[in-house]
Amino acid sequence: MLVTTSILLAFVLCTQAFYLPGVAPTSYQQGDEVSLFVNHITPTLRYEDKDAKASMYSYGFYNPKFHFCEPEGGKKKQSEPLGSIIFGDRIYNSGFQLKMMENTTCNVLCTSTVPKKDAAFFSKTIRGGFQYNWLIDGLPVARQMVDSKTQTSFYSSGFNLGYDDDDNVAHPYNNFKLFVEYHLRSDGNYRVVGVTVVPESIAYESETEPDCSTSKDAVSFRDDGDTKITYTYSVFWIPSDTVWATRWDKYLHVYDPKIQWFALVNFSIIVIALSVVLSHVMLKTLRTDISTYNELNLDDDSLDEVGWKLISGDIFRPPKNPMLLSVLLGSGMQILLMTLTTCGFALIGLLSPSNRGSLSTAMFVLYAVFGFAGSFISGFVYKFFKGEDWRTNMILTPLMVPAIIFTVFIFLNFFLVFAKSSGAVPFGTMLAIIAIWFIVSVPLSCVGSLLAVRRPAIELPCKVNQIARQIPPAVVHENSIPRLGGRNISFGAIAIEMYFIYNSLWFSRIYYMFGFLFFCLVLMLVTTLLVTLLITYFSLCNENYRWQWQSFFVGGGISCYIFAHALILSKFKLDGMVSIMLYTGYSLLLAVGVGLLCGTVSFLGSLFFVLTIYKEIKVD
Ligand SMILES: *[C@@H]1O[C@H](CO)[C@@H](O)[C@H](O)[C@H]1NC(C)=O
Repeated sequence: MLVTTSILLAFVLCTQAFYLPGVAPTSYQQGDEVSLFVNHITPTLRYEDKDAKASMYSYGFYNPKFHFCEPEGGKKKQSEPLGSIIFGDRIYNSGFQLKMMENTTCNVLCTSTVPKKDAAFFSKTIRGGFQYNWLIDGLPVARQMVDSKTQTSFYSSGFNLGYDDDDNVAHPYNNFKLFVEYHLRSDGNYRVVGVTVVPESIAYESETEPDCSTSKDAVSFRDDGDTKITYTYSVFWIPSDTVWATRWDKYLHVYDPKIQWFALVNFSIIVIALSVVLSHVMLKTLRTDISTYNELNLDDDSLDEVGWKLISGDIFRPPKNPMLLSVLLGSGMQILLMTLTTCGFALIGLLSPSNRGSLSTAMFVLYAVFGFAGSFISGFVYKFFKGEDWRTNMILTPLMVPAIIFTVFIFLNFFLVFAKSSGAVPFGTMLAIIAIWFIVSVPLSCVGSLLAVRRPAIELPCKVNQIARQIPPAVVHENSIPRLGGRNISFGAIAIEMYFIYNSLWFSRIYYMFGFLFFCLVLMLVTTLLVTLLITYFSLCNENYRWQWQSFFVGGGISCYIFAHALILSKFKLDGMVSIMLYTGYSLLLAVGVGLLCGTVSFLGSLFFVLTIYKEIKVD
């Protein structure tokens, strides 16, 4: 255990070092250059327009179709943590020149020429609500907004490429008024604590000496040939009382806090009440069962009453496909630990959005490291199932599910490449992922497997009979009702969060409500566990001893809900084939992940339950 902890710690420290530049404050002197970096151009959901179609992939800022101005000396890619790259960040330098505390107005960036065919593409992205994502000193360039419900002002990161007027004609923004808030520290240094932008679309008469002050017509793309767009910008340095440590607060705006809390409180009360009642009833029933069984003599005629004691000779009979089940359980454990730990780290503020890419990198690293625990569980369960071929188990566990995920990932990547999206993960990063997998995760997994093999098997409270019992025809309805109800409840817990998770996954809204997510996760796991125990108990009473796969599926069934919810209930329309493929693919991955996680919790809960109750009864 010590070894794993230290490896884990080392990793956390490594990743910390990896993204430290974003965490430490940068101090500037008057006149120091402050760089503006440009990130990818991302789709957003136009909440105000019901018929708007959402795109699922982003473009690089310097995608040649946009003809944006490149900096002198050429664009340079900025280094980013691995997680950032996987999740689509592509950061480059830009031609904007900002000097601390020096107001400038109407600087010309460049004049670009957009040919007719690219103008159509540009217009489409404007109408589709695509957004710029610029960064100054690690802060996103934002629009200042006022929440209509709470009347509070907040910063919404990113801003649109342009706007479309009432006649559906797109006008690109070409004048950017940047308002950079700075904080003067006592030591005479300045720090950037907020950046907002007011973009405008102005059809300039002169390319070299544009006049930004007067309001003129907006830029429109010409139908008959090339459109020339002159890009200009102004910078205003605004003194602010905000200190560096709290500079992110304005960006982290909860859109509908009341609704969320209401739903969550409501839901948790139902769940907690249900769980208390259920566990009470179950404990009582079990106690009566156990005491009757221990008084009864099995030779009596009262056999039909006996219920689950009858199958004590079969309860530990290994299921069909023990290898597959144990491998899935191992992968589920890996995802479960990764999710909980990531959430936990985020909860104590280690992975704040100010730390660009830290969340996704942590997820990836933790997933790789927890291969250890996954393989241990897999090997342990496989041994419990009396599996002989532990070598195959050791190889399959770290490879099977990750290989499937990776294949889907590569498949989807082809679509991104095809759509010329910047989201396509570069070949080098792919190789890095594979390398990390084989250098870190697979060896750790093997250690986990070996530890499981070395461990003595669990002592079974009852022996397995030579001949398998006949399972009476299932009493179907008795099981299906709690199963359905249970899945609904456990899905309900996570459904509240889905909306926010999707918004952050697809439309790059900053997600940071980790306390919330953590609580929802715990609720989901608790309900899943309760429902599984109930169903396992029922089926044991029905003399069905095949609880292993069944309990896995009870929990895993949630993935059908998540997938269906993503496909049917998501309230936005998708734009084009590639978006549909991407959306379906990523939803599928998400659904399978949550399914594995819940299935594992269900199985392990049932395993513990079965071991406990059969230990209590005397079997001759
Ligand atoms: C820059 O302009 C803003 C807005 O006009 C003003 O409040 C600020 O004092 C100016 N800053 C400097 C350093 O001149």
